[in-house]
Amino acid sequence: MKILFLGPPGAGKGTQSKLIAEKFGLCHIAPGDMFRQEVKAGTELGKLVEGIMARGELVPDDITLKVIEKRLFAEEARKGFVLDGFPRNIAQARALDALLEKSGEGLDLVINLVVPEDELLERARTRRVCSVCGKPYNLRLDPPKTPGKCDVCGGDLITRKDDREETVKERLRVYNESTRPLVQYYAEKGIVVSIDGREDVGTVFSHILEEITRKGLVPEEAV
Ligand code: AP5
Repeated sequence: MKILFLGPPGAGKGTQSKLIAEKFGLCHIAPGDMFRQEVKAGTELGKLVEGIMARGELVPDDITLKVIEKRLFAEEARKGFVLDGFPRNIAQARALDALLEKSGEGLDLVINLVVPEDELLERARTRRVCSVCGKPYNLRLDPPKTPGKCDVCGGDLITRKDDREETVKERLRVYNESTRPLVQYYAEKGIVVSIDGREDVGTVFSHILEEITRKGLVPEEAV
């Protein structure tokens, strides 16, 4: 199963794609998470992308593609993968098509999460992430049991640098200019489904599962 999540910043791509990957034992591939890990580890790549991400801009395509290609053909992706945050422009989508052509199998389904801008800004304002394991929280709807501490590992909760209001607005501008055209790109291939991402996490998840089932993608052992 090869699934791709599209949607603006804060639409719930990370939340839902991780749930789907977990349910079906798929490899979760998210360049945003990978870049944040590099920044945290202080690697050369991390130093290169830190400022770009903090400004809400896209990391150059050649760097992003190198990171993605490694994961796409790794052993843990053999059963399938869920792409979260890649591709983000038409050039990346064409590069992905070319990579998948090598394996003879294209994407099965593209889930486009739709959430209005005022809700996206509110989600960014109230998001905190664990500084140790990266688990996201929403202070309004899904607060940690102990304020400021991760439920899973006890790590300190922090605000992502790119969740400052000005940066979120820039990320939304970049999304509208570069990433939104991908909805049409995949609609022309007949594989995109739009889902209302305003509902609660469980409801959105069940709508995504319905689409996966409708497409006949559920492996027999998971039924
Ligand atoms: P990335 O990490 O991919 O960020 P993003 O796409 O901007 O998305 P977010 O992580 O903000 O939101 P999300 O849609 O995953 O929502 P989430 O589930 O977290 O990218 C960061 C940066 O990396 C980019 O700006 C760029 O610089 C670089 N980058 C990444 N990919 C790249 C690429 N391909 N090319 C070049 N550069 C790239 O949820 C958000 C919040 O809402 C959370 O608090 C969550 O708890 C809450 N929430 C989730 N679902 C719901 C719900 N149904 N109801 C209420 N709250 C919800």
